[in-house]
Amino acid sequence: RPGWRGLIEEFRDRLPVSDATPVVTLQEGGTPLLPAPVLSAKTGCDVYLKVEGLNPTGSFKDRGMTLAVSKAVEDGSKAVICASTGNTSASAAAYAARAGITCAVLIPAGKIALGKLAQALVHGAKVLQIDGNFDDCLMIADKLAQDYPVTLVNHLNYNRILGQKTAAYEVVQVLGDAPDIHCLPVGNAGNITAYWLGYNEDHTAGNSTKLPRMLGVQAAGSAPIVDGHVVEHPQTIATAIRIGNPASWTKALDAKKESNGDIIAATDREIHAAYMLLARSEGVFVELASAASVAGLLKQSAAGWVEKGQTIVCTVTGNGLKDPDWAVSTAPQPHTVPVDVVKTATALGL
Ligand code: F0G
Repeated sequence: RPGWRGLIEEFRDRLPVSDATPVVTLQEGGTPLLPAPVLSAKTGCDVYLKVEGLNPTGSFKDRGMTLAVSKAVEDGSKAVICASTGNTSASAAAYAARAGITCAVLIPAGKIALGKLAQALVHGAKVLQIDGNFDDCLMIADKLAQDYPVTLVNHLNYNRILGQKTAAYEVVQVLGDAPDIHCLPVGNAGNITAYWLGYNEDHTAGNSTKLPRMLGVQAAGSAPIVDGHVVEHPQTIATAIRIGNPASWTKALDAKKESNGDIIAATDREIHAAYMLLARSEGVFVELASAASVAGLLKQSAAGWVEKGQTIVCTVTGNGLKDPDWAVSTAPQPHTVPVDVVKTATALGL
């Protein structure tokens, strides 16, 4: 992506910016659409990964944050606030640092991956752990943004959605059309809303001949949309999508219905299996929540929902390095050997 200027400049005519908007960018967007040969063979389709972990702070959140923070600064805001399962806070902290404004972060105590916490702290955010879950954090952040001089940068701030829709534009640019199916993890349901908006805009503009079926995937212990009710105590190893009451619940259902798609649940075991497959067979290290998209695809493929020969995009939303604890604790630990060539060769089984 030589010369890539960040998504506000690249898609300026399709975003709510003017010459008066101070563009706060880390040159996000323009991420790879990577062919996935092993997944393609398994499904009999052409499967691609939209590798969002290669954004500046390691997740898709940067797409929404560049616009949300730029607009906040344009409106004279001196501080932003978010609730987060980790990635939103990492992104908000980085863009606020870049803009020279304050960032406040509310996270569920003890429930976010170490790398994400490190990011929020190192970028200088004011981080508070709330003794509750993500849904509690969002309720408080939203109330604070109403009552105090601070701008909410969760996706209830629609600029987040408008920034994130650009990922769909990029897919259409690379494929020359929309895919047949688009799979992605669902937590607060902002991203599925954003992609569906982006695909629809492209279709209306004549840039694509079709619209994809949207396949949203929740974690089974945190699947309010699939279960049809709020989950009071959401559980899953995929902490990024540990959400019991998604803000864009109805918009996710609209995307499912309008696209003739589906929203399904994948178990933690299925998510973990997809995470390992991505790492070991495709060479792509994602965080657990991101693997939900692939877990969902494999499940639907096995169930006969996916026709052979189709073009499928799975968004892998965040970088595996966000959660090194998980990766290390579930893998075999390396042995220690002396400084000895033969012993090293023996230990390696060479
Ligand atoms: N994947 C990752 C890695 C995420 O961090 C999130 C959401 C999602 C998927 C789901 O996206 O919420 O738009 O449906 N993370 C939010 C956060 C909640 O605070 O970082 P969604």
